[in-house]
Amino acid sequence: QALLYARGTYGHKPKVPVDADRLYEAAHKVMSPKAWGYVAGSAGRNRTDKANQDAFSRYPIIPRMLRDVSRRPMGVTLFGEEYASPLLFAPIGVLEMAHPLAEGAVASAARQLDMPMVLSTQGSTPMEAVAAALGPTKFWYQLYWSSSDALAQSLVQRAEAAGAKVLVVTLDTHAMGWRCMDLDEGFLPFALGQGIAQYTSDPVFTALAADRVAAGTRSLAPKQAPTLAAVWALASIIGHYPGKWWDKAFSPAPRAAVDTFLDVFPCPHLTWHDLAKLREWTRLPIVLKGIQSAEDARLALEHGVDGIGVSNHGGRQVDGAVASLDALEEVAREVGGKAPIIFDSGVRNGADVFKALALGASAVLVGRPWLYGLAIDGAQGARDVMARIAAELDLTMGLAGVAGVREITRECLKVPKVG
Ligand code: FNR
Repeated sequence: QALLYARGTYGHKPKVPVDADRLYEAAHKVMSPKAWGYVAGSAGRNRTDKANQDAFSRYPIIPRMLRDVSRRPMGVTLFGEEYASPLLFAPIGVLEMAHPLAEGAVASAARQLDMPMVLSTQGSTPMEAVAAALGPTKFWYQLYWSSSDALAQSLVQRAEAAGAKVLVVTLDTHAMGWRCMDLDEGFLPFALGQGIAQYTSDPVFTALAADRVAAGTRSLAPKQAPTLAAVWALASIIGHYPGKWWDKAFSPAPRAAVDTFLDVFPCPHLTWHDLAKLREWTRLPIVLKGIQSAEDARLALEHGVDGIGVSNHGGRQVDGAVASLDALEEVAREVGGKAPIIFDSGVRNGADVFKALALGASAVLVGRPWLYGLAIDGAQGARDVMARIAAELDLTMGLAGVAGVREITRECLKVPKVG
């Protein structure tokens, strides 16, 4: 905040809009209909996505006066590690739909801010390369548990070896939600070979795909990707977004790998008992992402997980589900401080982060906003969006009379307590 205002905003009109609604509109303009539908779309009639964002209006902040707020430390400790702020880049897959540099651009943004990234299993760049690009900036790894345990184990162990600090296991996406925009466009990015770089760089997956790979492919080979990325970047600079043909032409993985991915993708058979396997595979702290009820939070703790991820995937899975923020307080009561709560879904600005922290979150993942920034202005855009959310959180604390993130409590909000 100090940086934003001390240097002055006068005369500087940013390329990436500050306002969340204008950011959304600006991203819409630069993305192809398919990419936009995939990124901005949610499940069914988008009711959960809307509910996620609307919920924040029901928890007003009570500003307090005449408190010394000249220092407002933002640091938090999570799973024994120090972090500069409670903000993280949420795991988002298929980033090449927003920008050809994908995780490379986000890693650059994250490194500039020293703000951790949660790397997606549906990544467009092998995790080892992203870890290298992040340098000293910490990262967590998000697992989609495929129907092959050997593959899931391999991904987890690669992440641990690459230096991940936490394993985030996403539970709510054992199948894709009913996404009307994608269905109308006839679009599934993975079917084009997008977002499967963690798999194609994995020895277990490669073995699974060997037969099909040997059979050959009609898709473009991965070695052509840099050339296409350069053409894309040039076209973007001269102001022509080549999204339509890009979506058709670009398939970074051989057809056989795509088919193998589609084979191992769904895993609806998983139950609480399977979590024990994770403990055998890794020593990393485990966070379950997708918890939306006190009962599941209790089960998670009973099964020995280290953190609770309160999330409904940005409303992309179940249409008409409970707003993630409404689930948060109930979950926080159940957890009772026994484990960190990592919140996401619907966060659009710094005041939203403040409210989530007040309702019991230990840290907050931001999803679509930085993705929109990435689509508009690459690394700089993603960086700007996250820097502003942090700046607005800092300013909100100051103006609400709260001297740091650790001081944000339930008493900062005017709402009846649950129960
Ligand atoms: C996601 N999300 C997601 N989550 C995850 O665990 N693994 C993933 O690969 C992805 N991929 C993904 C792609 C896209 C395009 C979106 C929009 C979201 C969900 C993400 O981590 C987070 O839960 C939501 O984005 C949070 O909601 P908001 O901030 O977008 O409202």
